[in-house]
Amino acid sequence: MNIKLITEKAYNAKNNVSVEFVMPQNLGTHRYYKLLNKSGFKAKQDTLCSLYEKNILVCGIEESSADNIRSAAATAIKSLKTSNYKSASIAVEKSNIKAVVEGLVLGGYEFNKYKTKNEKQKLKNIYLTCKDIAELKDAFEEAVIIADATCYTRDIVNIAPDDLNPPTFAKLAKKLARENSLECTVLGHKELKKERCEAMLAVGRASCHDTKLIHLAYKPKNPKKIISLVGKGLTYDSGGLSLKPATSMVTMKMDKAGACAVLGIIKAVSELKLNIEVHAFVGAVENMIGGNAYKPDDVLTSRKGDTIEVRNTDAEGRLVLADVLDYAQEKVQADYLFDFATLTGACMVALGQYTTGVMGHSNRLRHDISKASGRAGELTASLPFNKYLKKQLKSEIADICNISNKPYGGAITAGLFLDNFIKEENKDKWLHFDIAGSAYTESPWDVNVYGGTGAGVRFMSEFLKSIK
Ligand code: BES
Ligand code: ZN
Ligand code: ZN
Repeated sequence: MNIKLITEKAYNAKNNVSVEFVMPQNLGTHRYYKLLNKSGFKAKQDTLCSLYEKNILVCGIEESSADNIRSAAATAIKSLKTSNYKSASIAVEKSNIKAVVEGLVLGGYEFNKYKTKNEKQKLKNIYLTCKDIAELKDAFEEAVIIADATCYTRDIVNIAPDDLNPPTFAKLAKKLARENSLECTVLGHKELKKERCEAMLAVGRASCHDTKLIHLAYKPKNPKKIISLVGKGLTYDSGGLSLKPATSMVTMKMDKAGACAVLGIIKAVSELKLNIEVHAFVGAVENMIGGNAYKPDDVLTSRKGDTIEVRNTDAEGRLVLADVLDYAQEKVQADYLFDFATLTGACMVALGQYTTGVMGHSNRLRHDISKASGRAGELTASLPFNKYLKKQLKSEIADICNISNKPYGGAITAGLFLDNFIKEENKDKWLHFDIAGSAYTESPWDVNVYGGTGAGVRFMSEFLKSIK
């Protein structure tokens, strides 16, 4: 499916369906009001009315906000994909072009890697028609880059765990580095031993795949700021010896979504040619069982030097991130440090499936992220740290415990565990994003279809674009 920006004049309407957005209050003045009314169409949000004889698809929107247009465009494209139309056209302007592109690209996304009997889609081209291309060109190209990077993230989240394991993840990162002129370093078992990444190595020990730490860098000349992104890349989380119940294990290929998001973000930044230096650090590990598995009761020495009592091997993401965060802080003196992780089921309990949990010390940074996610159409919400929850991580035999000693506040105690590995000078530069709920879905919502959603890519790209 191609999306092209063309002028109204260049547009030839043959064999085409034209897509229109209509609000309930404007329905009465629509040129085909009689027909629309006859069919019972009320222009409610995300409802459609197809006027076949007129080659028009009318999409209801509650009001003309970006969120509503994005969602309606996603609904429209899903319907058009199964129609006989070869092309569609939508009139766009500065105020809605981003939302339209996102709705079409993200709502029209399909993951067909494992399907052997694909149905051929007739719809080939979508024409966004406008008065003045020059006025919209930049916004159009930007929106396409960010939407495509989100789909890239979805694609890699959706790959089956046998195909995407830590070594193949490293290969994929190297390919991205080649294509987008990024620097790429991969640390394997030997190098990680030398780096004393014992917490991360313990998590991967029972896997037949070598654990990898991947570092990608995008380095323009004279950057305005330096940003480090860290991603949890559990290519599979069985829970380890604290084994997950069978039904909770299904979908745990998505436990690499944080890592996939940071790859998507660095892809977007490099294609947008933003004048900021971006480093992406990924801890690619598989959490499995076996005779050599790490176990509850083990005490691990992290790269930082702090000892960690393991009481649950399913709280593995924080162990991997402890070492990767420490490595990232030593290698790069960044202005901002962000980690993305499908870290806790508790975050989904607290915020629901749709919202990313944001944790950290800087109110200002949290505010800026909240603004950026509003512009991007992603949901984020702050979960506040406090000193009482911090005490719940106390260990009787080591410096810290990998789980809380109380059943409440699990998303925040996980965030506080990570905080233990953030250097004093970086406290206000760091935010942790728990995308456990938002990164994956088994039922469609908004612009998301079954599988990876690409959570984090849009709001972080939006934030990075705004850096002065
Ligand atoms: N990867 C999971 C968190 C998760 C759960 C992500 C559901 C997406 C959907 C994480 O490693 C985990 O298992 N966390 C435990 C922590 C607990 C043992 C303290 C959890 O959330 O139950
Ligand atoms: Zn786990
Ligand atoms: Zn996990």
